Amino acid sequence: LKRVLDLVDLDDATLARVLGAARALDRDRRLGAELLRGRTVGLVFMDSSVRTLASMQAATTQLGGHSFVISPGAGSWKFETRTGVVMDGEAAEHVREGIPVLGQYCDVLGVRRFADKIDLAADLDDRVMKTLAELSPVPFLNLESAASHPCQALADWKTMDDYEVPARGGRFVLSWAYHPKPLPYAVPASALGAAARRGMHVTVVRPAGYGLPESLLAAARAAAESRGGSVVETDDRRAGFEGADVVYVKSWAAAADYGRPADDLARRASLRSWCVDEPWFAPAKPGAKFMHCLPVRRNVKVSDAVLDGPRSVVVKQAQNRLHVQKALLLSLLGAESAVLP
Ligand code: CP
Repeated sequence: LKRVLDLVDLDDATLARVLGAARALDRDRRLGAELLRGRTVGLVFMDSSVRTLASMQAATTQLGGHSFVISPGAGSWKFETRTGVVMDGEAAEHVREGIPVLGQYCDVLGVRRFADKIDLAADLDDRVMKTLAELSPVPFLNLESAASHPCQALADWKTMDDYEVPARGGRFVLSWAYHPKPLPYAVPASALGAAARRGMHVTVVRPAGYGLPESLLAAARAAAESRGGSVVETDDRRAGFEGADVVYVKSWAAAADYGRPADDLARRASLRSWCVDEPWFAPAKPGAKFMHCLPVRRNVKVSDAVLDGPRSVVVKQAQNRLHVQKALLLSLLGAESAVLP
């Protein structure tokens, strides 16, 4: 495994090995404590983070390695990612130098860089993150890009396994919720992709105008159907939540307004009632789990009752970021067999 930009970069055998390693690392927190001795993990955060930043540093430390963090524009030179531009603005360093330079100081490079939210096709194609990966002289890990959040997808997969949510035959709802800003597709695409690849029956529940881009749905449909699952979309919340084992909540932009946030804000102005609350779960299975990648705006996107109630597994999801990232680091360095049973 040399680079992870998306879950699709892990074939079925690699995915099973990474999840197996993550389970072993979860059972025994001291497992693999020397495996990164003398190794350095470089972390470049072009966008904000709590979980990813802390869990990547903790993962490296717990495996015996060291990490450095560069936050361009916040104590480090601001990075330019566009090609062919005249750099007479804020950015003093281009990634064409910055990424190869940083790659010389480490054994694995992880980068977070969110969507530009201007050109839908460019963001869905993840062009910036692909370029960054190509520039890296060492194994590369996407820490959330315009189109994908593979570390979150793996943590979500492990969380469903931990709670014995059925894979084949299980019902997964990906529900839109109100948010005061139009957000990109990285997390919903990754959650959808993971549930589909698990062979689940996936229902995307969203108001009219917030259908996911067809390319995301088509890829998920193909992955699900080849494993006995399915993917459908609906704006009928009650029908969509029927029999759900899991409700995964996220907000995303209206594709038709992409690049025009004012239009999206006008579109969503009447959708503040899409704040997930306990009564929404009435048609779901009694033990249905609530999932969210965090951070989450309480009582805007999700009610206190849901977040503080027994169905919420958001803290375990965040814990699993640590275990899967340790497994990914070992896999990128060819060392995960050392922790497999
Ligand atoms: N879920 C997630 O990636 O959290 P952060 O944005 O805090 O890293």
